[in-house]
Amino acid sequence: MLIRVTLAIHDSALRQRLLRRLARPDILVEVPRERKSLWERIVREPADVVIISRSLLPNPLADKMKQLQNHPDSPSVVVLSDSTDPKEHARLIAMGCDTLLFVGLAVDQVRDVIETLLEKRRRMTQKSFFVPQPLAEPRLADFVSESPGMATFMNTVPRVVRSDTTVLIEGETGVGKERLARAIHAEGPRSQGRFVALNCGALPESLMESELFGHVRGAFTGATAARRGWFEVAHRGTLFLDEVGEIPIHIQVKLLRVLQEHEIQPVGSEKSFGVDVRVIAASNRPLEIEVKAGRFRRDLFHRLNVVTITVPPLRVRAEDIPALIEKQIQYLAQATGKRVTGAAEAAMQALCRYPWPGNVREMNNVIERAILLCDDTEITLDDLPESIANSAAASPGAGPAPDSAPCIRLPEQWLAKPLRRVRAAFLSEMERQYVEGLLRATGGRVGRAATRAGIHARSLYEKMKQFGLHKEDFRRAGARET
Ligand SMILES: Nc1ncnc2c1ncn2[C@@H]1O[C@H](COP(=O)(O)OP(=O)(O)OP(=O)(O)O)[C@@H](O)[C@H]1O
Ligand SMILES: [Mg+2]
Repeated sequence: MLIRVTLAIHDSALRQRLLRRLARPDILVEVPRERKSLWERIVREPADVVIISRSLLPNPLADKMKQLQNHPDSPSVVVLSDSTDPKEHARLIAMGCDTLLFVGLAVDQVRDVIETLLEKRRRMTQKSFFVPQPLAEPRLADFVSESPGMATFMNTVPRVVRSDTTVLIEGETGVGKERLARAIHAEGPRSQGRFVALNCGALPESLMESELFGHVRGAFTGATAARRGWFEVAHRGTLFLDEVGEIPIHIQVKLLRVLQEHEIQPVGSEKSFGVDVRVIAASNRPLEIEVKAGRFRRDLFHRLNVVTITVPPLRVRAEDIPALIEKQIQYLAQATGKRVTGAAEAAMQALCRYPWPGNVREMNNVIERAILLCDDTEITLDDLPESIANSAAASPGAGPAPDSAPCIRLPEQWLAKPLRRVRAAFLSEMERQYVEGLLRATGGRVGRAATRAGIHARSLYEKMKQFGLHKEDFRRAGARET
């Protein structure tokens, strides 16, 4: 987090010495030039700490101090005074100044006092932004996989963690994009900084710019107080921009500028300042398709996808399902105090066969429900929703006869959805299975697969991107170099 300091010191030599002491990457010092409008400026855009000469305090002080104290992020005020009168000191403190220092003190002593205040401030802001994590701290180990469907993923991720580049994470809903972003942050060089997650899809368009970059007091109707933006809060940490595709075009331009120049300008402010933030963006629709549709700027897309990680859906890494389920059972059994130790064989088979359209999120919810229902030490078929328990009935490999109508088992809860959505979901799932099957059959040769499908190779590439499929994952041993 960036700590803002306003340094309004009358004596220029002292001001210069303090400026040098405060020159640190997590401190932004502002030295107001205009003496006349100084206090208006301090109230309009309050810093965390205001260091001010006694002679620059406004008159009448009591009322003006109240304006500042009414602010939700009311700053700490340090007054440098040449008065040694204890009554004057008591008067200033009573009006809301936090600390009084005698100007004749050595600069190191002034610096020590300011250091302590800054540290307190840092802790205070840290506390107010702390959001408890419902699940155990995400780690990269959560994503370790032997599944061929995860080969590209496993190759890319360790390199990304060590670097400090912008990352774009793509993947269907519930695959763990946010969890992965948190793990990258926790295991990367910024782990001491804050991780700020922002769901761009949930922000009203009118507030988005101010949420991202902050605003000054009076910047727009209703901006009764200044507010810092999430970029500033995430200074020296990571900002996770979830559903980045939902950012409207006119704000995309501003976001691009911030990513290029590493500077933000709060709404209504004339000045911009530097921030050091790693951006991890996520989207559950392939952004390239949004670019082609004209909904997402190509230049911003290229800036974001310095590295793109696609988290494959659970159905292409079925090998990982048992381990994920066991971990979740262990975690939830401990959290709920239930003595469940695993899943019975039939239940595990059903869980592995189910296609998990909602991915890990859906799976974790099913396990949570099963643990609640479970009266035994093992989860059984009875503890699973009917649609999943039924998937145990289909024996492996016993597909429909060639060219007969495919056998589709409609999950019960889908009957509550409109036909339009069910049809779209099934067509998409059918298409995905078809493309995946073709790639498997052709050992990942896209040209050959496209010919069989009777479509253009470019269209097939687009579909592969849409479903998070990579030709490398289908190359058989020996077929790799061909
Ligand atoms: N590998 C994993 N191990 C354990 N839990 C996981 C794993 N991946 C995801 N989860 C859990 O699944 C849930 C969904 O994950 P997350 O919110 O990261 O998904 P998402 O891809 O961001 O989904 P959406 O696109 O809907 O926002 C979370 O509760 C997360 O902790
Ligand atoms: Mg998410």
